[in-house]
Amino acid sequence: MDIICHEGSKQFHLFNDSCSYIIGILPNGEPGQLYFGKRVHDREDYGYLVNYVGRAMFVGKSDDESFSLEANRREYPSFGTGDYRQSAFSLLFGDGSHVSALKFDSFKIFDGKPKLNGLPAVYAEEEGEAKTLELTLKDELKGIRAVLLYTIFRDYPVITRSVRFVNEGRESVTIDRAMSLCLDLPDHDYEWMQFSGAWAREKRPITKQLDEGTVLVESLRGHSSANHNPFVILKRKNTDEFKGEAIGAALVYSGNFLTSAEVDTYGSLRLMTGINPSYFSWNLEEGEEFQTPEAILIRSEEGLNGLSQNLHRLYRKRLSRGIWKEKERPILLNNWEATQMDFDEASILKIAAKGRDAGVELFVLDDGWFGARNDDRAGLGDWFENREKLPGGIKGLSDKIHDMGLKFGLWFEPEMVNPDSDLFRKHPEWALSTPGREMSLGRHQLVLDLSRQDVLDYLYERMHEIISEGRIDYVKWDMNRTISECFSNATPAKEQGKVYHRYMLGVYRLYERLIGDFPDLLFESCASGGSRFDAGMLYYAPQTWGSDDTDAVERLKIQYGTSYGYPISSIGAHVSEVPNQQTGRICSIANRANVAYFGTFGYEMDLNKLSDEEFEEIKVQIEFMKKYRSLIQGGDFYRLLSPFEGNYCSWMVVSEDKKKAIFAFYRILSEPNPPHKRIRLKGLDPDRLYSIGQEEHYGSELMEIGIEAAEIPQPVWVNPQGDFVSEVFVLEG
Ligand code: GLA
Repeated sequence: MDIICHEGSKQFHLFNDSCSYIIGILPNGEPGQLYFGKRVHDREDYGYLVNYVGRAMFVGKSDDESFSLEANRREYPSFGTGDYRQSAFSLLFGDGSHVSALKFDSFKIFDGKPKLNGLPAVYAEEEGEAKTLELTLKDELKGIRAVLLYTIFRDYPVITRSVRFVNEGRESVTIDRAMSLCLDLPDHDYEWMQFSGAWAREKRPITKQLDEGTVLVESLRGHSSANHNPFVILKRKNTDEFKGEAIGAALVYSGNFLTSAEVDTYGSLRLMTGINPSYFSWNLEEGEEFQTPEAILIRSEEGLNGLSQNLHRLYRKRLSRGIWKEKERPILLNNWEATQMDFDEASILKIAAKGRDAGVELFVLDDGWFGARNDDRAGLGDWFENREKLPGGIKGLSDKIHDMGLKFGLWFEPEMVNPDSDLFRKHPEWALSTPGREMSLGRHQLVLDLSRQDVLDYLYERMHEIISEGRIDYVKWDMNRTISECFSNATPAKEQGKVYHRYMLGVYRLYERLIGDFPDLLFESCASGGSRFDAGMLYYAPQTWGSDDTDAVERLKIQYGTSYGYPISSIGAHVSEVPNQQTGRICSIANRANVAYFGTFGYEMDLNKLSDEEFEEIKVQIEFMKKYRSLIQGGDFYRLLSPFEGNYCSWMVVSEDKKKAIFAFYRILSEPNPPHKRIRLKGLDPDRLYSIGQEEHYGSELMEIGIEAAEIPQPVWVNPQGDFVSEVFVLEG
């Protein structure tokens, strides 16, 4: 891994064992993208990759009509000077003009990776594992400096990017658009994969062939959303899970985003991701700076699984922080689906005790423990224990749970307030709302203005007190509605365009403060399930509740879709009661666990309601998970058969040393007399003899010949088992 600057040709070559990224200074003085792809030789001059083509209707800056911005690949393109694709940034100057000219000024290359002030970002830990290029561009006329940051990693096929604007001029300037990443590619022969859905059906992979025009996903909800995820993949047509080229782009950000791929009519492709420019404007006074969030660019030649595995590793090791990032996650029991808000201390202790008997390690008290919170119409914002339900308060309950030998976790939804709450009655101005306009409600609640320091201070003080006094080991940080009527009562008119982003910075600051005070606390983020499941959140909370949909069949899809962009250790997955509260479906307790194992694992039900037989079964499940969770949460995950493509789903995880693996197979609907279907396993050591069930097979057999799916479990025509059957096999070699 290195970054080489060729002073003569003014070119920069960032490379590691797998990829090369080459930047050259174009004839107009701005940086151009010369190459991004598989590692190539370093050489002094790749200048032949600059396009000199004169075309009718092109405009250019000199009489040399052969150079035009429209025909070239640019690193951080502006608008208005001859390139009519979407720009990466847009500045509005005091005189009303918006044409800018950011030209190369200087550069720095250094070891490691700088932190981004107030923002989540991938980090480097050891010396020599990352190198950074800082390209400084200047607009001399207006005194604007833009610093483009590129970090390349030794151990990951990854380049991270972000941009910092500095106003060194004499007048205020407004940033109307500042994308984190722009990647111009020379051809558009790619399919675009996005991960879209809605509440309870998050992250379904959707594939589109790119063609002239623009494809985009975005959020304007104030959080990244279940609807579209800030992670996309570009893949070649013949790329599949196991082979072929794929490029991923992830934004390390949890608020409004825009990710787009524009194909121009000459066949080039422009991929961009960053803060959504709609309803964003950031005026920068003299001397002020603005830092964009970070974008991650990742590349694979080993298909989609290869891409996901590297991203998983990066997120586990160099995005998540703290003691929990690679630690086995506790098996938890959450009372939400068991009691909703109708509980008291005795009923909670009864549920927790049964959990303890089953082998659970952490009990989590969900919504309903504070203020007048007996249903979702009241109480949010009043972070004071409800002594009617919990006479000894959170501390009293927590002590009793700890005395049982369990850890204790607690639910918060800090960003929200119910109109029917003491907090709102005292501080109506703390809710985001537009003067004179009706406030829209979502789940009977309003969103607090986390762009305000006084709001953050109140939340910090309440959470800090409860967490420290209550000896809390885990916090579920929920966020259950989108933002509407976005306007901050504490912000002057010309800064209202900052509010969405400042809100996110506020969320990040609050997390950071609490993490600083309680470094051992495990956070699980949540937004009605997976409505804020993004790389930004994983910097603070290493796990996210995958979905409010806990139905095992639906979870196959949700977890499969989520695995494209996020590690198994980040996916909150629980066994819940049946009939399932979201779908009404009844799946056996074995099937529910066989799906939930591939996540952080826990239970979301009253275990007292189980039959003795089922209770014995969950004891075995918990033992199994304790034994294998480090493999499941830390191994290489392979998607084998997609539940989006048929009646089956299959996936497996393989330990780093390839000595152990776990293979899972799921058949959704019962099939009489099913056709043959061989599943070929992946990632094993071909020469190792593995035991699997009652048999032994070499890795080569399992990978080349495979396992006959129609026979797992027992053929359905011999012993019909009805819909949804599944089997999890441990392979030991
Ligand atoms: C959201 C969460 C659930 C639960 C409820 C409580 O829907 O996703 O898991 O915590 O809120 O109100």
